[in-house]
Amino acid sequence: MIGKTVLPIALVVAAMGITAMVVHATEVSDAMLEEFASEATTPFSAEAGAATWVAPEPNGRSCESCHGESLYVTGSHYKTGELIEPMAPSVNSERLTERRKINKWFLRNCKWTYGRVCTAQEKGDILLWLSQQ
Ligand code: HEC
Repeated sequence: MIGKTVLPIALVVAAMGITAMVVHATEVSDAMLEEFASEATTPFSAEAGAATWVAPEPNGRSCESCHGESLYVTGSHYKTGELIEPMAPSVNSERLTERRKINKWFLRNCKWTYGRVCTAQEKGDILLWLSQQ
């Protein structure tokens, strides 16, 4: 009997250990915000981040072009129509958990949207805002 109860308990404990290792958006974004802050001039503002996200370029491009008007629902890629999962970490727990992914897409998407890389200030403002959604 004892053997039969010990195993499930061991599994539960192991599962809890795995859950504890899950990376949360804020751990990654907080660390990245600190790094961006060392290159930025003004304290980051979520309001500024939101404004940058929606502001269209003269050619109509903005972050919303692919991510959609709401961060809480699935967007669709401007060119390919490919679906893009919601950006808000509160509804999509995979968001903002991987530094490499965040950096890669900031680079690509800023280039596509603005024709240049984003500044540390812009990235910090946007990341702060996104991390609060
Ligand atoms: C041309 C389409 C397109 C535009 C415009 C676009 N994105 Fe994205 N973005 C994507 C795709 C595709 C992905 C990767 C797929 C995914 O993560 O669902 C992505 C992912 C991201 C991620 C990764 C988030 C994470 O942790 O998973 C960030 C950050 C991001 N985009 C920021 C931006 C910002 C900032 C802008 C505006 C400057 C922007 N995107 C505009 C297509 C776009």
